[in-house]
Amino acid sequence: MPDTFTRLPGLADVHVHLRVPGGAHKEDFFTGTAAAIAGGFTTVLAMPNTTPPIVTREALHAVQQQAKVEALCDVHFYAGASPGHLDELPILAQNTVGLKLYADQTYGPLRVEKLSTLLACFQRWPRGKPIAMHAEGRTVAVGIGLATAFDQHVHICHVSRKDEISLIAAAKARGLPITCEVTPHHLFLTEADAARLGPLGDMHPRLATQADVDALWAHIHTTIDCIATDHAPHTLAEKNGSDAPPGVPGLETALPLLLTAVAEGRLSQEQLIALLAYNPRRIFGLPEQPETWIEVDTQTPYILSNAELHTKCGWSPFSGMKVRGKVRCVYFRGHLLFQDGIFHPMDHL
Ligand code: DOR
Ligand code: ZN
Ligand code: ZN
Repeated sequence: MPDTFTRLPGLADVHVHLRVPGGAHKEDFFTGTAAAIAGGFTTVLAMPNTTPPIVTREALHAVQQQAKVEALCDVHFYAGASPGHLDELPILAQNTVGLKLYADQTYGPLRVEKLSTLLACFQRWPRGKPIAMHAEGRTVAVGIGLATAFDQHVHICHVSRKDEISLIAAAKARGLPITCEVTPHHLFLTEADAARLGPLGDMHPRLATQADVDALWAHIHTTIDCIATDHAPHTLAEKNGSDAPPGVPGLETALPLLLTAVAEGRLSQEQLIALLAYNPRRIFGLPEQPETWIEVDTQTPYILSNAELHTKCGWSPFSGMKVRGKVRCVYFRGHLLFQDGIFHPMDHL
């Protein structure tokens, strides 16, 4: 390995939309995990807001079988919470990493609005296995309240506002069973970028103010447990059409953005590894990946470009940005899976 390369553990992204079933024109298991590997992630946790959503044993079994055949890296799944399928939850829990609960408006059919449904989810989901919540603004307080009432681990997804992170910090200071993630887009972009990017800068939660971004960075060494991409690919035609869906891809830009922050002294490399590898694995109880690591050129500056992406959607809100931190090699279970943009898939493909 050349001196200018740094070896890091395979990263784990706990928040990824792979779009299978029903959205394979946006992303599929092959292209989504190719994007993951190219971005240094050897484990991804897939979200259940697909069409149909992953709310039944049959739907879960089907995606697990398909991912086994088509995915380039390890894919684990969340179960989705849906009022019509609550009795499935204890069984779904056995083969998933957590329950995803959409408590606020987002893309797709999964939204839990009624308190009675929230209660039923917390009553049925086994204690100790995380409940990941899409919760914005004061809904974060609802998540913390439920975690407290049921002594249940709640993981707050994509925290983006100063008030939210302050509230989570206070909850953690009391020892409540809360963890949280932030996304690279909420760390590196503001509402000014949203105005510049138009629909390509639109997602839930929306980009925030500079004061919100500063608050997230102020909590990066303390309150924040994970950085997760919320990789949410939609085609350019969909994003530029009427009624554009919210969401941006992120798997291939997260590590370069964060390594650039390391180079600028905003974050240590140890902290980066904790946020992108150790904490995600611990929080979601992910299995070890033996003989798995990545090698990154942390020195040479380059420009992020849509032309080099592997995600099927083919665009990024960070295109044109100057960064350092390019993934050069990925070793996956002892096999050189990726080198300088070229994949050498394992035997099953
Ligand atoms: O912007 C978003 N897009 N936020 C979400 O919560 C869902 C996601 C998607 O699935 O596209
Ligand atoms: Zn969400
Ligand atoms: Zn999401």
